Order: sequence, then structure tokens, then C-alpha cells
Amino acid sequence: MRSGGFPQSGRMPGTPLVAPSILSCDFAKLGEEVAAADAAGADWIHLDVMDGRFVPNLTMGPAVVEAVRRSTSLPLDVHLMIEEPEAYLAPFVDAGANFVTVHAEASAKLPDAFARIRDLGARPGVAINPNTAVRAVEPWTGLVDLVVLMSVHPGFGGQAYIEGSTERVRELRALLDRAGSGAHLEVDGGVDGSNAGEILAAGASVLVAGSAVYGHPDGPAAGIRRVRPDAATAP
Ligand code: DX5
Ligand code: ZN
Repeated sequence: MRSGGFPQSGRMPGTPLVAPSILSCDFAKLGEEVAAADAAGADWIHLDVMDGRFVPNLTMGPAVVEAVRRSTSLPLDVHLMIEEPEAYLAPFVDAGANFVTVHAEASAKLPDAFARIRDLGARPGVAINPNTAVRAVEPWTGLVDLVVLMSVHPGFGGQAYIEGSTERVRELRALLDRAGSGAHLEVDGGVDGSNAGEILAAGASVLVAGSAVYGHPDGPAAGIRRVRPDAATAP
């Protein structure tokens, strides 16, 4: 089933969104872990696809995306950390991806990839690594619905937020505003209750959180409450 349309978050327009990354969940209980995040108020579910080439780790393919699709009706935000992403776009959209993000560093054919994702009925995104200049997204602002700023070097969950990323969020926010882009600005890596407030103040609209949600000692609901934009500044 291709799923371009999906229910929007019930939150007020402009309210930041939280996208738990299932990379840090208990894969033996995948469906329950996704359902728990959904019940706890997650806005999207973030899925990290790694190929052992673009990043030094292997994670999941379309079969896992399809299993997650059966566990929630939330938008699925599929983050492809793979080389030659063009070859795998249809399987991921067929599996139920709503957003498909490719890395600026991974493909020489980004505009083709974005167009293909849209043709398939999903929404295209572009991600940039910590060492990639923010201005690298400038040519693509009119073509994507999501820009992902990595605040760790991709490959693993549970890494520390790279200081200096918040300044890059500010820079990217300014770039998107200048371009008149309505794309979401998502920050991915090391986001937790201690930095969510400053990241949002810098202009992010979506926070990915893996270990902060699924590694929380009191479970994913408590983890989401800690990162939740509306709770991030609460005592
Ligand atoms: C890193 C992934 C992230 C990661 C987030 O390569 O793209 O989505 O799983 O996990 P935390 O929040 O633990 O950094
Ligand atoms: Zn990710």
C-alpha cells in the first residue's frame, strides 16, 4: 500500500513535533514499542535505515518499515543512511514510508530522488551530516518537505549531541526562511530533555529522539514527556 496521505498531528499548527527513533527500542517487542510511543503522544515514528557502507552499521529494511506500518497510523519518517538510495525508494514507500529522506552526501542525483519519492506518493527529505555546510541544502529548498540536520555523526543511537549544532539549526532556519520554504526542520541525534528547548528556540520544528525515549528508565511515555516541546521548558 502506498500511503502519501496520512492524518496530520492533532497539535496546533506551528507546535513542534517529536519523532521517536525506534533504533533504540527493544526489537523483540517492536510492535508494542511503536504502539507505546504512539499512545504517549509521538507525532511521527523515525526509522533509521543503514547499509554498512554509507555508515558503519546495519539496521533495517522495508520489511521492518512494513511491520511498523501495521503497528501505528502515525506518519513514518524513514531516514535512509545508504548509498545509491535511488535503488530503494519504491520498496520503502510501498512498505508505508510517508517521509523518505536521503543524504546530501550519499547521492549525486538528489533532484531525481526527490521527484521519484513524490511520484511514489511520499514526501521527500534531505539530510546533512555534521561536517556538511548548511548551505549545501540551498539548491533543494524548493524540492523537499523536510530538511534533517544531523547533530551526531550518523551510524549509531545514543551518541552525545555535538555542541555547535544549535548554531547550525539557527543558520538553517534562516536559510529556509530566506528561501520561503515551508519544509520541516528536523534535528536528529543526541536530543534529550536538556537540549530540546534550545534546539526549538533556534528554529527546529521536529525533534528526533531515540535513546531519550526508549532508554528512559520509566519507559517511552516518560521519555517522550521529557523531550515533548510543551514539557521541555517545564521544571
Ligand atoms: C543516528 C540516527 C538517529 C539516532 C537517534 O545515525 O540517525 O536517528 O537513532 O538516536 P539518539 O536520539 O539516541 O541520538
Ligand atoms: Zn535518524
